[in-house]
Amino acid sequence: MKFRSVKGTRDMLPAEAPAWHAVERTVRRVMQDFHYREIRTPIFELTGLFSRSIGELTDIVSKEMYTFKDRGDESLTLRPEGTAAVLRSFIQESLGEQLPLVKVYYIGPMFRQERPQAGRLRQFHQFGAEALGAPSPALDVEMIALPLRVYQELGLKEFAVKVNSVGCQTCRPKYKELLKTELLKVREQLSEDSQKRIEQNPMRVLDSKEERDQRATAHVPLLKDHLCDDCRRHAAAVASHLDLLGIPFEEDPRLVRGLDYYTKTAFEITSTALGSQDALAGGGRYDLLVEELGGKPTPGVGFAAGMERLLMVLEKNGTTFTDLGPVLYIVAMDEASRRWAFKTAFALRSRGIAVEVDHLERSIKAQMRDANRVQAQHVIVVGERELASGTGRLKNMASGEETEVPLDRLLEG
Ligand code: HAM
Repeated sequence: MKFRSVKGTRDMLPAEAPAWHAVERTVRRVMQDFHYREIRTPIFELTGLFSRSIGELTDIVSKEMYTFKDRGDESLTLRPEGTAAVLRSFIQESLGEQLPLVKVYYIGPMFRQERPQAGRLRQFHQFGAEALGAPSPALDVEMIALPLRVYQELGLKEFAVKVNSVGCQTCRPKYKELLKTELLKVREQLSEDSQKRIEQNPMRVLDSKEERDQRATAHVPLLKDHLCDDCRRHAAAVASHLDLLGIPFEEDPRLVRGLDYYTKTAFEITSTALGSQDALAGGGRYDLLVEELGGKPTPGVGFAAGMERLLMVLEKNGTTFTDLGPVLYIVAMDEASRRWAFKTAFALRSRGIAVEVDHLERSIKAQMRDANRVQAQHVIVVGERELASGTGRLKNMASGEETEVPLDRLLEG
């Protein structure tokens, strides 16, 4: 029987490791520059955490979660996103009592049972950040600037930033009622999914990708014209801080996003290099969520970015990442030299020098070929004569230059 990986999951193969490492390194460096510290939460949580925060009626919770009962009959779910778990930890560990503003980031796998297609996986990876404790619109913009900084460092150019305000407790309920009334008037023209959403989640109808929905809702009132003063001021400050950083953006009054926890700012970063799954990153503010999950009222804002999608864009751009080859390749001619090479390699590695030796008892020629393949910086060939004389010739593979070296110097340093 041959086993295959589960549909919608993939391996990171060794050849892909340099690209993943480059992305992860860049994320960590950028997060360090913005002074965010890493948090790691478990990949599964109690199911209620996600249904409560993301929203029962969202696609994620109603159709896409990997939920199972464990042997203790507890309902658990593989995390479909990172925000809920970070907030759970923030509340559980009273992180807010130690610092007035908690700034954290994460990198890791997320799980959603979506229909797999290019750029859409069932296990995918995100990097993301959350800032808990401040209502400042500057932080909303920081959450846009963070992934953009990562993209720029990696040489990405073609992306678009879309920003919207989804309002708050004060203005949203009133607007929703108004929207519902308008949507009921065009009900028959809407897609089946959108018809279902009118009652429970009417704002999701606005960012439907279906053409008939877009046509039918072309003239419905938009929340941007019904925001309360506080939300309006916040949205204006977000726009002015984006200008301050010189980040081009588009106000998209129909952007709602597939998670219910947002208040005020919601944003998405898309790439023109991707197909229909073009969202590279998304996020927004969630000023009510900590309280909703049982914590003290704490404003928060964050983003998450898909790593596979980022890697797809990098590949499209022809960006290549290579591993550094070993510093030294020891070519051994016989059994005694192989033993010497094995011991010397071990000693050198303990001093932080990357060394490769042959484990296949290959000919000298084949070992030289292998040294080329792994792009060794230096090669030394050791045989009976070298061991007897105690000196060998160290070849610099780039320049071809050879120098005599005493062998015991390699062992000592
Ligand atoms: P999200 O928009 O659901 O937001 O996901 C963020 C990013 O994860 C997407 O833009 C996309 O790049 C990637 N992604 C999502 N689903 C898949 C999939 N099935 N396959 C591949 N990539 C995918 C969140 O997850 C929120 N937690 C963001 C956030 C943080 N909001 C506030 N803080």
